[in-house]
Amino acid sequence: MSRKLVTTSDGSHTLFVPELGEHYHSIHGAVQESTHVFIKHGLETLPTDDIPLYIFEMGLGTGLNLLLTALQPLGRPVHYASIEAYPLNAEEAASLNYGSLFDEHPEAKSLLQTVHTLPWGEPTALKPGLTIHKLHAKLSELDWAVLPQFNLIYFDAFAPDVQPNLWSEEVFQSLYNQMHPGGILVTYCAKGSVKRAMKAAGFSIERLPGPPGKREMTRARKLI
Ligand SMILES: C[S@@+](CC[C@H](N)C(=O)[O-])C[C@H]1O[C@@H](n2cnc3c(N)ncnc32)[C@H](O)[C@@H]1O
Repeated sequence: MSRKLVTTSDGSHTLFVPELGEHYHSIHGAVQESTHVFIKHGLETLPTDDIPLYIFEMGLGTGLNLLLTALQPLGRPVHYASIEAYPLNAEEAASLNYGSLFDEHPEAKSLLQTVHTLPWGEPTALKPGLTIHKLHAKLSELDWAVLPQFNLIYFDAFAPDVQPNLWSEEVFQSLYNQMHPGGILVTYCAKGSVKRAMKAAGFSIERLPGPPGKREMTRARKLI
């Protein structure tokens, strides 16, 4: 899968996959979109607690969602598992500008580098209090039994038009089964068929304002 580096409207990079006609993030702003969908309407909405937080990400990709999570004041142990079928090569990872976009976080550059150099297949500390488990596999091949129950899911697959199999009721059912009651799943996608698949899997759905350039996003909750 060939990929091209693109600069989005907020100055942050994303990747474009010509074969799919898909960007990894919104061209209206990659950092802006990830912050809005996954941090503001995901991580920041969870009750503050000192018990460990378990996050699962569909699609590690550039590592942007993980980096943004790592830059938050987490205040409790966080275990972050992320699956990726087509990892970036070293040159692609090194070309991303995320490490130099956060003046108040000079550590961002080395964190991003570490995200991309840590081994696959074993939980490893990214920084004190934050363990990451990079899973090199397709979602359909994942052995859920070896993973914990999650409180928060960042569902960041390519759009349903290009990868409909990743947005099916069956996939959302597996995710639902792997979540703690009260857990939430956030995604940039607000397509009707996706929300219906989530509902059929048992989730309660919220429509939320989307990031710049997008009217809506979705938050799905596993009710207690
Ligand atoms: C929209 S991109 C987002 C990536 C990432 N969250 C980011 O911020 O860069 C979707 C990601 O899912 C990965 N992917 C596509 N199909 C997959 C599959 N079947 N299983 C696991 N990962 C997949 C892609 O390689 C890509 O990295």
